[in-house]
Amino acid sequence: MSTPEPESGTPWWRDAVCYEVYPRSFADGNGDGVGDLPGVTARLDHLGRLGVDAVWITPFYPSPLADGGYDIADHTAVAPDLGTEADFDAFVARAHDLGLRVLIDLVPNHTSDAHPWFREALASAPGSAARSRYLFRPGRGANGELPPNDWQSAFGGPAWTRVPAPGGGPGEWYLHLHAPEQPDLDWRHPEVVADFERILRHWLDRGVDGFRVDVAHTLFKAPGLPDAGPGQHQDILRNHLMPYYDQEELHPLFRTWRRLLDTHPAPPGAVPPGQRVMVAEAAVFDPARLARYVSPGEMQQAFNFAFLECPWDGTEMRGVVERSVASMRAVGAPVTWVASSHDAIRPVTRYGGGALGLRRARAAALLMLALPGAAYLYQGEELGLPQAHVPDDRLRDPLWERSGHRERGRDGCRVPLPWEGTAAPYGFSTATADDCWFPQPGDWADLTVEAQEDDPASMLALYRSALRLRHAAPAPADAAPVTEGPADGSWLAFDRGPGLRCLTNFGPDPVPLAAGDEILLASTPLEGRAVPADTTVWLRRSS
Ligand code: NOJ
Repeated sequence: MSTPEPESGTPWWRDAVCYEVYPRSFADGNGDGVGDLPGVTARLDHLGRLGVDAVWITPFYPSPLADGGYDIADHTAVAPDLGTEADFDAFVARAHDLGLRVLIDLVPNHTSDAHPWFREALASAPGSAARSRYLFRPGRGANGELPPNDWQSAFGGPAWTRVPAPGGGPGEWYLHLHAPEQPDLDWRHPEVVADFERILRHWLDRGVDGFRVDVAHTLFKAPGLPDAGPGQHQDILRNHLMPYYDQEELHPLFRTWRRLLDTHPAPPGAVPPGQRVMVAEAAVFDPARLARYVSPGEMQQAFNFAFLECPWDGTEMRGVVERSVASMRAVGAPVTWVASSHDAIRPVTRYGGGALGLRRARAAALLMLALPGAAYLYQGEELGLPQAHVPDDRLRDPLWERSGHRERGRDGCRVPLPWEGTAAPYGFSTATADDCWFPQPGDWADLTVEAQEDDPASMLALYRSALRLRHAAPAPADAAPVTEGPADGSWLAFDRGPGLRCLTNFGPDPVPLAAGDEILLASTPLEGRAVPADTTVWLRRSS
């Protein structure tokens, strides 16, 4: 089977469900305890059976792994521990055979400190051409001993690191909005712009259908690198006024990339040029500003992190749905719903943990998958995995060290998937559990794909049914659901389209259904004709 053409004039990505693979934790093909590309390819039929439309694979490039692979030493190669270029080609071919589009990460804000450009910069003098691809500056203070400005790293501590001067002694500082091993590029440098066009073309030639653009909002820094100012870093992720967030020059750049994607020839199996997609990962919480990333001629999708961050509260959820739909509709873009990712606490844990967390995660999944627009799932979400506890001495996230051990970071959602069997590593690898790169919890036997496979009450069965019904009841291309519900937010309902109505009960009391409504799917067994607490039901209305 080759990648199918869209059935109608609606671009495939507008209502696509994309599955995020974190390759080192998906499946290990060579038994070294680390997931790899052959492992992913061998298990891709799991995505086919789930019923998703696309796969996004997070960085598989050579990396010293200072930040889970988002510190890239070579943007057009494959990390040796993950496989070869032929393994990548085999992954793309298998995905296309299964009818899945392939998205990969573009990480333009920074490189690894092991990237040849940064090594050359360190070996070169202040003011040299090699340093000008990054953001090197002299320090403040009498002897340059203070960072050039007050910017903070997203992982804690100053966003600047001082390097030795070429002849010895302390020298300039370089900017890193993330870990010190991730120096920021200067996006006003023409070689940086040209190199990323080369990188885009390289992967398009290898058959990818789109890109997830990492921290798309931070590429340009305000001229002069001004201080953010006192108090500005208190809620760093939400402050779009940061001088390193959301600068105007982003938009002409994204338009250039879009033209490239829309015109570069496609190899067999890949979608044709006009159907490729870019999805922005941008922590821009003002919906109107986020909408600019997906305005005509720019990217097609932007992750809606407001849904992921919304607590289990009907009033707040209704507000998120209404604001998200209105702002994206204003620019003709779909909302791109997200409930989990390799950066977030898993929904089961976020919504309270245990049986309650699982019950709400099931209800949230049906709510999200009923909403018109695109959706991204993260590996293990379909199994209802909770956040795993990773012992202190096995933590790898730079947040752990850089926060002075106050924040454990994101490793708990990155432990290897449980596939089968009753003990770790649950079919993830032929290595022993002790030799796997992250330890898995000892109580995941009931959460494996194998254990859930034939259980109609499992999370896996719920996701499979939901994706099948969702495909059978497409939302109209420009759908703007009218939300309904009482003022106290105890329940929320909307029509996805003519064939599917969704109702979520956030409150404690059962919500009776209208007589004659046909029940298509429920996240928890109904109590007669009433929807119990923390439950979503999909209905076909009696006409
Ligand atoms: C966002 C990625 O999702 C995250 O994992 C990474 O740490 C940062 N960008 C920096 O690249």
